[in-house]
Amino acid sequence: MARLNILRYPDPRLHTVARPVAVVDERIRRLVDDMLETMYGADGVGLAATQVDVHERVIVMDTSESRDRPLVLVNPELVARSDEMAVAEEGCLSVPQIYDRVERHARVSVRALDRDGRGLEFDADGLTAVCVQHEMDHLVGKVFVEYLSAFKRERIRTKMLKRTREEQRSA
Ligand code: NI
Repeated sequence: MARLNILRYPDPRLHTVARPVAVVDERIRRLVDDMLETMYGADGVGLAATQVDVHERVIVMDTSESRDRPLVLVNPELVARSDEMAVAEEGCLSVPQIYDRVERHARVSVRALDRDGRGLEFDADGLTAVCVQHEMDHLVGKVFVEYLSAFKRERIRTKMLKRTREEQRSA
């Protein structure tokens, strides 16, 4: 396994729309394993392939307290969404150290393939529902800061560019 480089906002590649996975083969399993290592290594609860510059519909997540319940979603779809909405604070490995409140469906029903290409379907609420919606947004090129006001987004963009420049200078 290998840790992958995570694209940082406002990298334009984060706005790429991912294509469906045709077949869950060894290549996809290697990608999934590398994404899990990358997510756990960065202390994240979710990671979409888009964030590691692979534009295929693959997500990994682990919203458990114990950090030992990986969830792999290939070609995820939301088959139902609650009318009820909920607001939660979100962060993103592509927008480090930025947290803000986003409104999403409180409950969703998800259909996907797992790491072995088998179908799975489940209902999610709480953090898992937030995380599924957040990661699925990445697959269509959307970063959570796009839900914030233009003013906040611009401030985040400036902060991220400045931080990246500083890191490049000290590297
Ligand atoms: Ni994210």
